[in-house]
Amino acid sequence: MSHPPAVLAIDQGTSGTKALVVDGDGAVLAPAEAPVRPAYLPGGRVEQDPRELLDSVLAAGREAVAAAGVPVGAVTLANQGETVLAWDPATGEPLTTALVWQDRRAEEVCADLAGHAGRIAELTGLVLDPYFSAPKMAWIRRNLTREGVVTTSDTWLVHHLTGEFVTDAATASRSALLDLDTVEWSGELLGLFGLDGEHLPAIAACDEVIGTTRAFGGEIPVGGLVVDQQAALLAEGCLSAGEAKCTYGTGAFLLANTGERAVRSASGLTTSVAWRARGATPYCVDGQVYTAASAVRWLNGLGLVGDAADLDALAEPDAEGALFVPGLAGLAAPWWRPDATGAFLGMTLSTRPGHLVRAVLEGIAAQVADLAAVVAADLGRPLARLRVDGGLTRSAALMQAQADLLQAPVDVYPSPHATALGAAALARLAVTPSLTVAGAVPAWAPATTYEPRWPADRAEEFMTRWRRGVRAAIETGR
Ligand code: G3P
Repeated sequence: MSHPPAVLAIDQGTSGTKALVVDGDGAVLAPAEAPVRPAYLPGGRVEQDPRELLDSVLAAGREAVAAAGVPVGAVTLANQGETVLAWDPATGEPLTTALVWQDRRAEEVCADLAGHAGRIAELTGLVLDPYFSAPKMAWIRRNLTREGVVTTSDTWLVHHLTGEFVTDAATASRSALLDLDTVEWSGELLGLFGLDGEHLPAIAACDEVIGTTRAFGGEIPVGGLVVDQQAALLAEGCLSAGEAKCTYGTGAFLLANTGERAVRSASGLTTSVAWRARGATPYCVDGQVYTAASAVRWLNGLGLVGDAADLDALAEPDAEGALFVPGLAGLAAPWWRPDATGAFLGMTLSTRPGHLVRAVLEGIAAQVADLAAVVAADLGRPLARLRVDGGLTRSAALMQAQADLLQAPVDVYPSPHATALGAAALARLAVTPSLTVAGAVPAWAPATTYEPRWPADRAEEFMTRWRRGVRAAIETGR
């Protein structure tokens, strides 16, 4: 078997772009990072400057390649998934800002299509919600421009790198325009969203070379494209049905591999393509906490914490009854209430900032635990353990709360770069025909395992109270 080359894996996320040069065995040779700043605007609008996204991809990628000092045999890009913009395919110029996945403005499109929600779910595995790409694409067409093409951010970025017009099967499955069973764009869905006649990108497999780029020195194949959450699922070795991970990034996303049948969730989760590689298409169910690190950054804006690194020092050992529902950008699975809001409840005159910090950590953990219960209902068995990654896994207080509320061990992935490492595995597959999917994913041992310390009845009591808080966050929503 020929040995895979070193690859450049770029993770273009909501709050920053990470680039890694990774050797043929999956070891990181050089990391680089460039921040990006979403704008949080009134009315639940969240926007990014597409140019800033592209500049961050180029800057982080070039820095990693220069620092690694080895030849790179492939470049891959993991992307945010549901962030969309209109752009001119002739010049590559953006025609709009990027509407970020957290943006709620397409609620009005979803309200208009409410009568078709069942059919949309049947075809796509997704729920009709402004989170997904198609409602935002339709909103852009209704309100901003009918010029050019309207696509997810990956297509625009990859066009700048390669000149191609392409997305990958996993990203396409987050759009609500993909027939989940055939993995092809659906004319029926395009019609429903008022997007008929749109020029949509070709759908590539996640182990395919789609073109070449000169953006990082020399001419390098580009391939192994994938959406970020699924990349982390792969990196964490969730290759078999029932294996699950949660990534605590800007949002927190719990995904469980469900094998090669696109089983629709009976419990309000969404179903997507996990990846398409080596001729196989495994699927996954996913549940979403729209504001995880976003909620911490919001606390920071209120002056309650410095940054995420301070969380554990500031959190009181107990919230003393204070409760938080992280609905700052609405609530996703299984409630699907884009109009829900964040809520602090249960406060008294003795509540201090440290209690609120603890409540926020417990609120994020509770929402993930709730999603895990929904995943378990779909899979027909509880999750035996949960693999976790992402910046907030550095908070021992959050991870311990997670194990306590989940009532299962939590295994922390040993690298802060799970998403980029998953994309790197797909890039190796794209340029190494003899490699298998399992062979492309290095084995790993948890950096830390958190075992539950709370007895089951305490966890159950907390969850019952927290779910009452969710109802309040929905009832008092916008
Ligand atoms: O679906 C949006 C999600 O994939 C964004 O990920 O890491 O930016 O929270 P992240």
